[in-house]
Formats: sequence, structure tokens, C-alpha cells
Amino acid sequence: MDHDITVLGLESSCDDTAAAVVRGHKILASVVADQTDLHSAYGGVVPEIAARAHAEKLDLCVENALEAAGKNLSEIDAIAVTAGPGLIGGVLSGVMMAKGLSAGTGKPLIGVNHLAGHALTPRLTDGLEYPYLILLVSGGHCQFLQVNGPTNFSRLGSTIDDAPGEAFDKTARLLGLPQPGGPFVEQAAILGDETRFAFPRPLLDRPGCDLSFSGLKTALLRQRDQLVTSQGGLRRVDVNDLCAGFQAAVRDVLVEKSRRALDVCSGITGFAVAGGVAANTQLRSALETLSKARGIPFVAPPLSLCTDNAAMIAFAGAEKFIVDGADDLTLSARPRWPLDRSAPSALGSGKKGAKA
Ligand code: KG4
Ligand code: ZN
Repeated sequence: MDHDITVLGLESSCDDTAAAVVRGHKILASVVADQTDLHSAYGGVVPEIAARAHAEKLDLCVENALEAAGKNLSEIDAIAVTAGPGLIGGVLSGVMMAKGLSAGTGKPLIGVNHLAGHALTPRLTDGLEYPYLILLVSGGHCQFLQVNGPTNFSRLGSTIDDAPGEAFDKTARLLGLPQPGGPFVEQAAILGDETRFAFPRPLLDRPGCDLSFSGLKTALLRQRDQLVTSQGGLRRVDVNDLCAGFQAAVRDVLVEKSRRALDVCSGITGFAVAGGVAANTQLRSALETLSKARGIPFVAPPLSLCTDNAAMIAFAGAEKFIVDGADDLTLSARPRWPLDRSAPSALGSGKKGAKA
């Protein structure tokens, strides 16, 4: 990769407005304005509110990122922007802003696939060489990808319904825990007994690497309702045990499917995990144990680079630019944009946008 290229990245595909300046593997600045407060009353991301907030915050984020990097626009070599997949209003806000900057400065414009941003992060943080396996697990995505190059991905499996983060969030809602639910479910699970309630391990009885999480939510709802009916309410210990049982089921499914994905990959340099759910300590260590037992290096980028950010978009933009060159001003925003066009379309459309 050409280490001399300095890229301004923009990200606005979900509920984080972000801008970053990256040069080679060095993040000169990364600014993220999250919208959690704006959506918290609604129990999920409201696309129209998200799009307006992106339109309001993008220019400020760009200014702050440039200032923190000590650069002005004339010192930027290219402008990379998430052009999909995601909530279309937000993606459009970013694409329009990037087009304006590109047209005004004459700098090349690079449309980046948001999932490619996540998938290439282990190269940004750890210099992982192609090809490698990555598991993306977030509130909007869940898929196994073999990453062969900046624009060359093979999807080995994906969720056919919800993403794991959605299931964590729903679990928290059903148990009266705050949003976003993942960290609160994890905290409760630490104190719980994972063997008290029997949760299903969806799709383990079928071959392949596809996943499903919607049945887990339903199982949790049933267990909760049975407890409420029989005891008149939930005790703290019940919440802890339900969280522990749920988390163990997610962990077991992801570990077993990762084992299968590792079986079908050949010549990979490592196994990486990214996305907000990768913050889960129990999951991270179970995946690391699996990878190490196979003698395969394990990479889990720092949390700030696992969750949505623009540094990953700038970096992925630079890698794409070197291979494919720039886009032009006809670049369009795409709500769906599968990384592996040969893979069959994954079902489902989660609360954070369409599954690619
Ligand atoms: O990648 P991310 O920040 O946003 C997108 O979905 O794009 O992921 C957010 C998701 C939320 O659903 C949140 O509940 C989940 O990641 N999450 C966790 C943990 N921390 C965040 N899930 C399980 N355990 C955690 N510690
Ligand atoms: Zn994301």
C-alpha cells in the first residue's frame, strides 16, 4: 500500500456521524458524534432523525477532524465516503457532502462499502495480510467473510434474520435493562448461572456457516413470561441467569460457526472479529481460544475501531483507490450493497438497516 496517501473519510450509514483523516496505517484524527440520546426514547434508530442529525453534524465533524489532524483540505489527497449499505437518508447525507468536497477541491472521490471498512480494519490496526477470515458481529451485521483483497470478498455465511447486537438489545429491553443492551446484558451475565435456563443453539443442526438469532429472543421472552406468571415478577437473580443463558447460546453458536468457517478457509493469515458485539469479553476470549487452538493468529481491533468510525472508511478508501482508482460524481448511495456479489442475498432487514 502507498503510505503517502492522506485520506479524509466520512461515515454516516447508521447512528454515528464520523470523520477521520488517515495516512497509510496512521490515524491522524478520528471524530465520532454518536446519536444515542436522539434515539433512546424510541427503542431503536429512527431513520429520519438519523438522517437529519447527520446532515447537521457532518460539516462540524469534518472541520474537527481536519483541525485535530493539523491538516487543511488542500493537504488531503482523496475523500472517501460510505456509499452503502445502510439507512439511505444517512448514506445520502455523507455522499452529498463528499461530492461537494470533491467538486470544490478537485480531490478524488472514493465510494466505500461500509462492510469493507469493518472488514479491512484488521489491516489498519495489525497489518494483517490477505487473505484472512473475519467475523463481523454488530447491531446491524453478522457475517463471515474471507477477505482476499480490498474489493475481493467471499462470504461464507451470514445471519438469515437478526444481527446478534439486535438480539442483545432486545434481551435488555425484555428484561428492563438500559439501551444499547449488549454491555448491560454482559454485566448481568457475569453474575448469572448459564445452565439454569435451556436456550436453543439455532442452526447448529444444519451444515454451513449461516446463523439465526430471532429464535433466541423468542425463547427468552417465553422464559421471562413463565417466570412472571409463576412468581409474579423477575428477581435480580432471574435477570442474571437469563442473561447468562442467552449470552452462552450466542457464544456457542458463534464459536461453532467460526470453527466451520475456519475449516473451509485455506491459506489464511489470521482470524479477526469486528463490530460492537466483539466488545463482549466472553465471546472474544472464546473465539481467541478457538483460533489459537488452530494455530491461527487472532486479531480483535480496539473497540473504538470495532464500532462505526470513519478511520476505517478512510483506510478502506485508500486501499480501494490504489486498486480501482476513483469514482466520479455519479457515485450513488446504496441501501443494499453486498460485498460478495456471487453469494445469495441474505434475508432480513434489521432495525439498523438492510442486511447486505
Ligand atoms: O458496531 P456497532 O457499534 O453498531 C452497529 O450496529 O453498526 O454495534 C452496536 C451493537 C449494539 O447492538 C450493542 O448492544 C452491541 O453492539 N454491543 C454488545 C456489547 N457492547 C456493544 N453486545 C454484547 N456485548 C457487549 N459488551
Ligand atoms: Zn458498522
